[in-house]
Amino acid sequence: MSGFERDNDGLAHGARAIIVCPDIGGANRRSMNSRIEEARGLALAIRLEVAEALDFRIRNVKPGSLFGSGQIDVIRSAVDAHDAALVFIDGQLTAVQQRNLETALGAKVIDRTGLILEIFGERAATAEGRLQVELAHLDYQAGRLVRSWTHLERQRGGFGFLGGPGETQIEADRRLIRDRMAKLRRELDELRRTRGLHRSRRTRAPWPTISLVGYTNAGKSTLFNRLTGSGVMAEDLLFATLDPTMRALALPGFDKVILSDTVGFVSDLPTQLVAAFHATLEELIDADLIVHVRDIAHEDTEAQRLDVEQVMNDIGAGGEAGAPVIEAWNKLDLLNGERRVDVEEEAHRRADVVVISALTGEGCDQLLNGLSAILAKERKEFDVRLPSSDGASIAWLHANGHVLSEVFEGDEARLRVELTDADWARFQSRALA
Ligand code: GTP
Repeated sequence: MSGFERDNDGLAHGARAIIVCPDIGGANRRSMNSRIEEARGLALAIRLEVAEALDFRIRNVKPGSLFGSGQIDVIRSAVDAHDAALVFIDGQLTAVQQRNLETALGAKVIDRTGLILEIFGERAATAEGRLQVELAHLDYQAGRLVRSWTHLERQRGGFGFLGGPGETQIEADRRLIRDRMAKLRRELDELRRTRGLHRSRRTRAPWPTISLVGYTNAGKSTLFNRLTGSGVMAEDLLFATLDPTMRALALPGFDKVILSDTVGFVSDLPTQLVAAFHATLEELIDADLIVHVRDIAHEDTEAQRLDVEQVMNDIGAGGEAGAPVIEAWNKLDLLNGERRVDVEEEAHRRADVVVISALTGEGCDQLLNGLSAILAKERKEFDVRLPSSDGASIAWLHANGHVLSEVFEGDEARLRVELTDADWARFQSRALA
């Protein structure tokens, strides 16, 4: 294996971490509170244990370390006090800054792009997603390699794949990375060419699929766990080995439905990660129904909604041609007084909105009923003729559709059955298999 696969030098799950949000002024107008909340969400997404969150106003960016020495002392004290293994800097660091901070703090340091790449790496469910994430990761590493080379010639880099010091080694590593990226791009092109084929092969489960989307911290995982229950059902083991973010869901009127969680949206996504992010969301295109989980108590909830809708349009999920979308307005328990009444009234007026609290469970039954009603409405009537000996197909139609009539005549069975378009496609591909 080449030496420059992902650097696995230890974002151990459960590691104790300090979050540091640098405020360098300028374009980022979001409040520090919401930035810290989001940074916490990102850290939690790879199961880091956040011991403390700090924020600093940076007046003069120090090229070598970003922070001033007094600020570094404060961070160092926090690292020592909590015996933290990791410091997550919610901003972009150069390779030099990262290395100097690691030395000064005595802990591993990771920046925003690095952390998001870790999350995507864990969550990419499709082949395309995985390739895109690896490509983004190499791009990130290559950029840092160049910088560390120009700034610190002949100094050994902190990357696992840098074998030795000196220009020749770095040049060789750059070439290796370029070659690997070219190969990944070719694989991606190939995947896209065969996408139609690929999709139909990817039909993982013969059941309708509901996907959760939403901003990081909106409460997707909390809702996912509440709806599916914490106990893992036997059948889930099958999916767990493939993808821990998919579980069976009991929905009124359906034999079984698959609920899938997706990676959360983040604000200010570094541009080099956009393609990887879109690819990790690719499964949305195949969903029968999308639940857009919104933190309705968040001050930026409207901006977040637009952001999510924009991306769904970009990748061709939701919208006119895509699957129906339901908005779950979450964290109702955090609202009170007039604001709560307003939100509930507005939700009541809209057929595509359910208000819930994933934390307390309020509204979750209504959400389940709403999902079931929409999936049922998506069903159309089909006439199916089969050899009456094909018991497996007949059982499949009973399990996945609503059989309106069933007549056996000689060797033939004639069924009139309600199915969603997606189920009809599944049934047909099943018949061809
Ligand atoms: P990512 O995995 O980062 O995409 O986040 P997520 O959307 O899965 O959010 P998650 O379920 O991890 O919840 C984020 C935080 O919000 C956690 O601290 C939850 O306890 C909290 N939370 C989720 N739902 C509710 C809710 O209904 N009410 C309240 N008060 N808090 C909630």
